[in-house]
Amino acid sequence: MNLDSAASATPQDTPTADSQVLVELRDVQKHFGELHVLRDIDLTVTHGEVLVVIGPSGSGKSTLCRAINRLETIDSGTIEIDGKPMPAEGKELAQLRSDVGMVFQSFNLFAHKTVLENVTLGPIKVRGTKKSEAKAEAMKLLERVGVDNQANKLPAQLSGGQQQRVAIARALAMHPKVMLFDEPTSALDPEMINEVLDAMVELAKEGMTMIVVTHEMGFARKAADRVVFMADGQIVEEATPEEFFTNPQSDRAKDFLSKILTH
Ligand SMILES: Nc1ncnc2c1ncn2[C@@H]1O[C@H](COP(=O)(O)OP(=O)(O)O)[C@@H](O)[C@H]1O
Ligand SMILES: [Mg+2]
Repeated sequence: MNLDSAASATPQDTPTADSQVLVELRDVQKHFGELHVLRDIDLTVTHGEVLVVIGPSGSGKSTLCRAINRLETIDSGTIEIDGKPMPAEGKELAQLRSDVGMVFQSFNLFAHKTVLENVTLGPIKVRGTKKSEAKAEAMKLLERVGVDNQANKLPAQLSGGQQQRVAIARALAMHPKVMLFDEPTSALDPEMINEVLDAMVELAKEGMTMIVVTHEMGFARKAADRVVFMADGQIVEEATPEEFFTNPQSDRAKDFLSKILTH
């Protein structure tokens, strides 16, 4: 996160420029039939960086997230996480995919499992963590996002904001290197948006590397190091939140901002 990085960097622990790169996309192309949904995407995210992706509906933001997590294949180009290309399939893919935590717009919790089971399932099944250990860590994570008192309930018994915080805890339980958030608050009632954003701001402060698709400007201003504006599958602008929101360069961005600012 922007506020902390300068203060915490000392000459001794400053890694080389290359080792700081955690997520790297180079010349990524993706079509759905005739539709060119990702065009010439070049994007680098460094360790501890918080990147906000913003742009009109249909501009390719979700496809970008899904491609990074390999839930979606790409036509050409490369995507590397921590210097390793995403393998196409198999065990290696499951391993690498667990390096990337993902929180979607809809909560995607397992409906018939308790909150605690939702959080422990991945570590037990994929990481081979002992049940008791997984439970202890899950309780800590649930406490961190403020829903430890809901541990034994089913997701449907929780509010949307609580469910989304459980989804964050579930992703964190896999010890991801980077967290992707795809419009995590857009399906929430307004009064629940802040409790989720607050949990995300805390995560950013702790140094988590994050790629966040959101139109929440307050979050972008508070937590983002950089904003990327997408339109028609392309990265049109890249700037600090302050620069982007006060002085957008492209007509597309100006038009988009004027629309989201007026409601
Ligand atoms: N599985 C799919 N098959 C065909 N078209 C898709 C599919 N997923 C997304 N699209 C299209 O790709 C474009 C980008 O979608 P998406 O990445 O969801 O954009 P955003 O998240 O910015 O709203 C849209 O035009 C959408 O309709
Ligand atoms: Mg989307």
